Amino acid sequence: MDELPPQMSAQDHGSFAYFTMKNRAPQILTKVIDTLHQHKDEFFEKYGEVGAEAEKKAFSLLSKLHNELETDKPLLPLADTWVDADVWNEHLEYHHSILNENDKKISWFQSPWLYVECYMYRRIHEALLLSSPISDFDVFKESKQQNFLESQDAIITLCIYLQELSSGIENLNESQLKNEFFKLLQISLWGNKCDLSLSGGQSSSQIASPLAVLDELKPFILVNNLEMLWSLLINRKKTSQEKFSTTRVDFILDNAGFELVTDLIMADFLLASKLATEIHLHGKSIPWYVSDTNKKDLNWMIEELKASNTKCLFECGANWEHYLKKHTWVYQDHMFWTLPHEYCTMSHFAPDLYAELQKSNLILFKGDLNYRKLVGDRKWKFTVPFHQALNGFHPAPLCSIRTIKAEVQVGLTTGQGEEITDTDPQWMTTGKYGVFQFDGAL
Ligand code: F6P
Ligand code: MG
Repeated sequence: MDELPPQMSAQDHGSFAYFTMKNRAPQILTKVIDTLHQHKDEFFEKYGEVGAEAEKKAFSLLSKLHNELETDKPLLPLADTWVDADVWNEHLEYHHSILNENDKKISWFQSPWLYVECYMYRRIHEALLLSSPISDFDVFKESKQQNFLESQDAIITLCIYLQELSSGIENLNESQLKNEFFKLLQISLWGNKCDLSLSGGQSSSQIASPLAVLDELKPFILVNNLEMLWSLLINRKKTSQEKFSTTRVDFILDNAGFELVTDLIMADFLLASKLATEIHLHGKSIPWYVSDTNKKDLNWMIEELKASNTKCLFECGANWEHYLKKHTWVYQDHMFWTLPHEYCTMSHFAPDLYAELQKSNLILFKGDLNYRKLVGDRKWKFTVPFHQALNGFHPAPLCSIRTIKAEVQVGLTTGQGEEITDTDPQWMTTGKYGVFQFDGAL
């Protein structure tokens, strides 16, 4: 097998990895510190003096982290005892020992970008864990909730659309059903523009009628394997109805707020259309990359919907709660999703999760970070086939649904990447372009 290309790193000045570690990551940390500080009175009211002391402790740990990052210090072992601490520390020790032979250390600007960026979010979690009793405070909660609240108009439009669609779904012919399937997947794709780590936590509200702009956005879909997804599910639907078998679709979720709504609308449609009979939703166990979905975010959103005076929102909230209760939708999390590992190592580091995903008929990986991990965050040529870049990760047929926000993209046609670079040099880091990239080979 050919040698793999190197992973992206902030060593490359001028790269988005460098820009992230130099500018975006410190800004995110500053915002985390400010948010924590703004809650100091609340901690005091809730826990008294211990609460106030805990805030000071987390504040000082996070300020120290900020300083380590800005001065490119070696990465330190984790000092908490959360389930993944040993995995991180063994990994760090191993890499430090290899590099030590050359008098080098793993550091913020010298080591793989994926690794150090994940490490930053894990250290934020560590600062909170070491600051009992405020350990379960989610520093990103308010930004996530704000994103949901600011997107109300778009969410109402989508919920009404879903309900009208579901009520008449039995009357649709195959080509109409396919058309709706494509539409809702595109909504879910562009919903991924809503990640808050690109904007440092600042959410931008959604246009009120996301369905109206889909045609305008089509030219920005650089790899479009929607037909393959459709064939897979419609063929299964036809054969499984005869055999009474199930079709399981897994969503590897990305951001809470508007994007999560678009994913759940898709999940709801898959059930209503009988293209799937069982949905698994995979979220993160700890606050991650600012806006990624935790169980609490999903629960909060469902409660918000149910409390709404707007009928369509209330009904969506009630239906989604019902699906979760009767396990037609299953929410799952696993510490592997917040490790820095590329997915081709999943069968080694998380064989249980790999085995779980093997039960799926289709896995949808939402978002940019999932894409980076699928292809190892490596400097692949644009034309390398997706299958090759997955480097052996084939638990089940899978599809990346991603707006492009990092300088890695495979599976393009010859000259396609270069052509876009000529007209739009920043195309890889703005989220303006997207892909539906499918790999069905096992
Ligand atoms: O690459 C830019 C970035 O902000 C990365 O930090 C991260 O890979 C990603 O985008 C987050 O986006 P998403 O929420 O789509 O995974
Ligand atoms: Mg995200």
